[in-house]
Amino acid sequence: MPREPKILTIVGARPQFVKAAPLSRTLKAAGILEILVHTGQHYDSRMSEVFFRELGIPEPDVNLGVGSGTHGEQAGRMLMALEPVVAEQKPDCILVYGDTNSTLAGALTAAKMRIPLAHVEAGLRSFNRAMPEEHNRVLTDHCSDLLFCPTPTAVENLAREGITKGAHLTGDLMIDVLRKMAPAARANSPALATLGLQPGRFLLATVHRAENTDDPARLGGIMHALAELAAAEPVVVPLHPRTRKMLAAQGWLPPPSGSLKIIDPVGYLDMLMLEQSARMILTDSGGVQKEAYDFGVPCITLREETEWVETVGAGWNVLAGADPGRIMQAVRAFRIPDVRPPLFGDGRAAEGMADILSKHLVR
Ligand code: UD1
Ligand code: UDP
Repeated sequence: MPREPKILTIVGARPQFVKAAPLSRTLKAAGILEILVHTGQHYDSRMSEVFFRELGIPEPDVNLGVGSGTHGEQAGRMLMALEPVVAEQKPDCILVYGDTNSTLAGALTAAKMRIPLAHVEAGLRSFNRAMPEEHNRVLTDHCSDLLFCPTPTAVENLAREGITKGAHLTGDLMIDVLRKMAPAARANSPALATLGLQPGRFLLATVHRAENTDDPARLGGIMHALAELAAAEPVVVPLHPRTRKMLAAQGWLPPPSGSLKIIDPVGYLDMLMLEQSARMILTDSGGVQKEAYDFGVPCITLREETEWVETVGAGWNVLAGADPGRIMQAVRAFRIPDVRPPLFGDGRAAEGMADILSKHLVR
């Protein structure tokens, strides 16, 4: 008797847990067996376990426990640990998300072991080769058999690199999960009360991108801007551990003022509550830019470029870099556009992906 199709999914970092939640559920409903492998890239409970719990993601079948390290150490340990797992599981397909070192390790493993590879969030490009994520996504796309693109721009980016076979416009899983969970966040998250915040009367900021955390001038510029903004209204900063470490090294902690609320990373439900209640969001996160757009909250992106160019084109996102003067100017000058067209699908990306995977796996 033919066995049910088997996918081996590789996750490791916070945004990958969020994206995996709706697709894991949909794959199960479609009768596809999923073996979930957590590389252990993110391991603090606030960076990992909280997402599994809040989003009802099944316990990983395997945790490689790779942890932190240089890019070479981290990716190398992942490759060594993945090979025997894949050899034992013999999946019909390997599924990876996004652009982290866990994504690249999964892609290389699939290529070396000649297992078909599916890439969620394919075709994204910043065109900035100084970003580790840009290498990860380009290399992963070029190893992939199925490429799930969130936007038409992503499809075009792939086509420019000669990749058309296997590319599908699917929309974005982050919108699936946001739309499903936003009401629960509104009903249950204590974040506003805990932090003493009023809806629409605070700013939310996140910073973790290497180009910002590892450059003292850029990190200092962003923190100065946030401190200046906090003189007028509360600014909440759920801080990635990487950024906390770098700020501590520069003597920035504890917070310089009560209205600059530097806190630990928050769970997904609290994050959705903070995002949808903020007057404005300042971020260098990819996921948070999209979430701000879907909630209709103005976004200032603390980078020189973005992969999510549609949000900038629509007038809801402004690139402001890390210079305090430029950030302050962007906040002051922001005008809310009249319209907010759907850019990332209709919140049913998981169904489309599961459908394509089912067809691809049944031969
Ligand atoms: C990674 C991804 C980035 C993604 C981000 C999501 C790469 C190259 N980068 O960046 O694309 O946007 O995840 O959040 O894969 N740390 C902890 N506890 C943890 C995890 C990390 O303390 O649970 C600290 C460690 O000091 C570690 C540092 O954060 O060295 C960086 O972690 P790492 O996973 O290497 O990269 P991120 O900056 O999280
Ligand atoms: N997020 C969260 N708590 C936080 C910060 C972010 O739940 O304190 C969520 C956020 O809502 C989004 C995802 O984590 O769903 C984005 O992850 P991150 O910014 O780390 O990575 P990126 O999207 O830039 O790769």
